[in-house]
Amino acid sequence: MEAHSSIFGNYSTIHGPKTPCYALKFASFSSSKQVLLRTHLSFPSNIAITEKRLRIRTSVEEVHSEIVGPNVLEDSVRAKVRRKNLAVFVSGGGSNFKSLHEATVNGFIHGDISVLVTNKPDCGGAEFARDKGIPVILFPKVKDGSGLSSKDLVNAIRSYKVDFIVLAGYLKLIPTELIRAFPRSILNIHPSLLPAFGGKGYYGMKVHKAVIASGARYSGPTIHFVDEEYDRGRILAQRIVPVLPNDTAEELAARVLHEEHKLYKEVVAALCEERIIWREDGVPLIQCKENLSLYK
Ligand code: GRF
Repeated sequence: MEAHSSIFGNYSTIHGPKTPCYALKFASFSSSKQVLLRTHLSFPSNIAITEKRLRIRTSVEEVHSEIVGPNVLEDSVRAKVRRKNLAVFVSGGGSNFKSLHEATVNGFIHGDISVLVTNKPDCGGAEFARDKGIPVILFPKVKDGSGLSSKDLVNAIRSYKVDFIVLAGYLKLIPTELIRAFPRSILNIHPSLLPAFGGKGYYGMKVHKAVIASGARYSGPTIHFVDEEYDRGRILAQRIVPVLPNDTAEELAARVLHEEHKLYKEVVAALCEERIIWREDGVPLIQCKENLSLYK
């Protein structure tokens, strides 16, 4: 790790990936220690990343607690929490869905995909689900009259005892009935750093083209809770990838998608292990697996 000084403070350059965890000042974490907040940019492992240290006294604290080994904690968390049932919504190829499915099968996610919802019964995601024996629901209704109404969708999802709904490239609007029936329980992934390049009209390659045209030097996936405003629910997790000077939209999309697969697995794993907590102002935080007193 190299240290640099500048008018902005002390910087250190570190090499390799790093997932940051932060301590927050809650009533139960009373400490008057000086604060050290570390911000990390998460890049592919061969790219040097920069760690900036800021001295802040009020909002973040160092917490000195014993770090429990990941496996010990994982086992103890999982022994206490029920395995969750997930509904995944897709409209396309479903690479995120496939990656999440693999993570439920190999045990990374403490849950199962109980049902797949799609508006495109022949899409790659729906074919994959049928192949794996996962029931497929059509929503909304299509021209020939097949497909469920919003009310029937809520009932169908409830009949699978679904705990959480995971949107993975589903292009239709989520009905208000479903959002109200599953408060704080629906996640979406978007391929830009929200709130930039989100909302109506920002989907697929349009997002990446707009990012490149804007001159933004960084992009990356955002995972957020879904509420009644399009792409505006509270942000739960983000990951940064560089936008390179000669990037095409396709190249940037591939770089972002690679991170999407990793990030969605980690976040859905946290959701299923009940490691999401809600800050007083309504912002959701992920408790670190290695130490539940630290947050991502
Ligand atoms: C992803 O880029 C995701 O961010 C967006 O839709 C795309 C779905 O891709 N919401 P896939 O079908 O999972 O490959």
